[in-house]
Amino acid sequence: MGKRAATGGYDPSGIDLDAWETLESQLEATIPNYDRVNKWMTFGQDKRWRRNVRNHAQPGMKILEVGCGPGSFAEDLVGLDVTCLDPSAEMLATAKRRVDGARRSRGEAPAAYVEAIAESIPLPDNTFDMVFCLFSFRDFQDKEQGLREIFRVLKPGGRLVICDAGKANRIHGFFGYLWMNTVVQWMARIITREKNHPWKGLANSYTHYGTNGYYRAMLRKVGFEAVDGRLLLPFGMSSRFRGTKPKSN
Ligand SMILES: C[S@@+](CC[C@H](N)C(=O)[O-])C[C@H]1O[C@@H](n2cnc3c(N)ncnc32)[C@H](O)[C@@H]1O
Repeated sequence: MGKRAATGGYDPSGIDLDAWETLESQLEATIPNYDRVNKWMTFGQDKRWRRNVRNHAQPGMKILEVGCGPGSFAEDLVGLDVTCLDPSAEMLATAKRRVDGARRSRGEAPAAYVEAIAESIPLPDNTFDMVFCLFSFRDFQDKEQGLREIFRVLKPGGRLVICDAGKANRIHGFFGYLWMNTVVQWMARIITREKNHPWKGLANSYTHYGTNGYYRAMLRKVGFEAVDGRLLLPFGMSSRFRGTKPKSN
């Protein structure tokens, strides 16, 4: 993996450490406006996509969200045993306030919080029924290693569901690139009222992202079975991948 021709985009598994640290500080700077910009840049569809992913969970399951960010997804995981993982202490602190606040109001126990990267998950093998990754997979420095770690912590028969940006092929990717670099930039500037808002740099993570086919192949290579990956409406702006850890392996 790694050749541009093979990915339909740039090499998605190779964000170097300096670029990743810059990306992390830009992501942290989005916290105050994160939900509002997401809502506008997806025409309000981010909620529907999150619900689509959430509906894969069954009551009582043990869930890990990798790259929980400020808790926009995890706060609505109801009736589940939830662990939120993120490398950013600032994101985790925001998620904890938000997710535990929501859980308390529903009479549920607090979630667990782990400060770590997907590529090195400090949790035991075969622990989770389901792992969710919402708009964080694109930010992993080494995506294949992140998937290997997710595979390890899933129970046999457990499932991974990823939702991230959509990129069917180079042409679709070009329109995505235009969207990220024009409309999203205007929206972020209007909402944040800042000329140098963090979405300026975040468009890069889309440029580096590969195609659906590339990640389906990567999931299979890591050992997942029943792998699928499809673009979600409108315009294939996002994609959803699913894979299951074999029951015997
Ligand atoms: C755009 S936010 C996603 C937040 C949330 N999951 C949601 O539904 O909107 C991306 C998150 O991925 C995290 N992230 C970046 N690199 C990561 C890595 N290597 N492993 C795990 N999480 C990572 C960032 O710290 C950030 O909080």
